Amino acid sequence: MATLYDRLGGETTVNAGVQQLYRKVLADGRIAPFFETVDMERQIAMQKAFLSWVLGGPDRYTGRDMRQAHKHLVVKGLNDSHVDAFIEHVSTTLRELGVTERDILEVAALADSVRDDVLGR
Ligand code: HEM
Repeated sequence: MATLYDRLGGETTVNAGVQQLYRKVLADGRIAPFFETVDMERQIAMQKAFLSWVLGGPDRYTGRDMRQAHKHLVVKGLNDSHVDAFIEHVSTTLRELGVTERDILEVAALADSVRDDVLGR
């Protein structure tokens, strides 16, 4: 069976998707402030590698685990509403790229599965 990574369209979709995702994130006043001091070029590269890995594609991820990566943001008030907004943008982006609703739900569920780690609980 094809992996979710393959069904979504592999590297092409992941690359395009992550670029579009962070364009939306930075335009969303609810969550953009968390990225104020972040090197977005590095962030985009990290997210591409992370997603490729968790979707069943090549594993080139060299970043921190989700708990460590977001620890300092929890101190700044990162909460469920921010994760909801982020996942909303993931879903919208995939919809724009023509991904099926079924696969969008699967990706959203994957993102939701790291919620507790991202929020440090
Ligand atoms: C729910 C799914 C999420 C996933 C899968 C995810 C994934 C990632 C990954 C892979 C990194 C790179 C880690 C590293 O640099 O070592 C990262 C960093 C980061 N994430 Fe997330 N993230 C999620 C949610 C969020 C949310 C909701 C926010 C804020 C609204 C956020 C803000 C950030 C910021 C600001 C960084 C950069 C931290 C830094 O380098 O100082 N993330 N995330």
